[in-house]
Amino acid sequence: MKDARSIKEDFPILAKEVYGKRLVYLDNAATSQKPRSVIQSLVDYYEGYNANVHRGVHALSMEATERYEGAREKISSFIGSPSTESVIFTRNTTEGINLVANTWALANVGPGDEILLTEMEHHSNLVPWQKLAREKGAKLRFIPVAADGTLDLSDLDQLLNHQTRLLSLVHMSNVLGTINPVKELASKAHALGAAVLLDGAQSVPHMALDVKDLDCDFMAFSGHKMLGPTGIGVLYVKDALLQQMEPFLRGGEMVKDVQLEDASWNDLPMRFEAGTPNIADTIALGAAVDYLQELGMENVHAHEKQLTSYALEAMAELKEDMEFYGPEDLSVRGGIVSFYAPDVHPHDLGTMLDTEGIAIRAGHHCAIPLVRGTLNVPATARASFYIYNSEEDVDALVASLKRALTYFKRS
Ligand code: ALA
Repeated sequence: MKDARSIKEDFPILAKEVYGKRLVYLDNAATSQKPRSVIQSLVDYYEGYNANVHRGVHALSMEATERYEGAREKISSFIGSPSTESVIFTRNTTEGINLVANTWALANVGPGDEILLTEMEHHSNLVPWQKLAREKGAKLRFIPVAADGTLDLSDLDQLLNHQTRLLSLVHMSNVLGTINPVKELASKAHALGAAVLLDGAQSVPHMALDVKDLDCDFMAFSGHKMLGPTGIGVLYVKDALLQQMEPFLRGGEMVKDVQLEDASWNDLPMRFEAGTPNIADTIALGAAVDYLQELGMENVHAHEKQLTSYALEAMAELKEDMEFYGPEDLSVRGGIVSFYAPDVHPHDLGTMLDTEGIAIRAGHHCAIPLVRGTLNVPATARASFYIYNSEEDVDALVASLKRALTYFKRS
């Protein structure tokens, strides 16, 4: 893979200074920065062939349609989908999960059924199921998180049972960095007749994966965490389930024929993409996939693993003042480091680091049950790495953390 320094040159924003300091961007789990090729593809669309898709007979519309569907093909092959029909464009991971809750789950989950989640879910994979369970008389159950930040599977045989209709879990935790054993869990769930939904928001941008190999029925992820624009996401749905699903949103684009009293549905996947889609951002997500594929996802993952190992080692001397979360076993961990210093509120830490040009996230990371419940802290500070981060960035983070801890301990 190109080294982080030359990758950085492809990202105009990373040349920016913040308060006169070099920008050290370590908030990639919240959103990634965008390379020039992605930004340029947005400009190319609006300057060169802005038109609606699937409806026009004119040259601009045909070009827009070709590139929009071309992006679908790129994304389909990126995640190993057997067909482009299984790739539905959404706004983000949250919308993808809500789509499943409001279509497949609405039709397939009933009173007394169980939905199995984990205690490390982002709110996007929790709140939609709370509503569904309430409305359907179903029960939510949770795989607990062990002290080492991995899932505690000791009671799995009891939690995953004949009542389970759906196992819905995060592939990589946005707080702990834990990579869950989804393949094994999916195989157990399928043996019991349950479907499997994967929240791929933090995994798809950072590692090579194949939906056939993982054997998930649904996988939702967001474009903006993988070098693409905001407002574009993807929901993969396995063909057998997709064929039975009712449309989510209804209106233009998703119909084949309409009478005053009735309508029939368009082919897949357009049936799930009502209204004018997010054309420019979809095409730009295709450009983001090109960029990542050029680097190679195995290389992306290896780079982040190396950086995480470097960071954990460099931060070891802060252990007296800080608690660190997430598995020590780097074979089940991505590029995320969360920490909490009892003497300093994470927001103060984040604000102080910001004055030195270092961007991290502080808060509950949209995972309140995990952070306030399981970890039992008000919030954590989190550094999250991507392809353009280097050891130099980690050194800047550690030096700044040391200064902040000294300052707050004195005051
Ligand atoms: N879910 C995103 C994060 O973890 C926003 O920061």
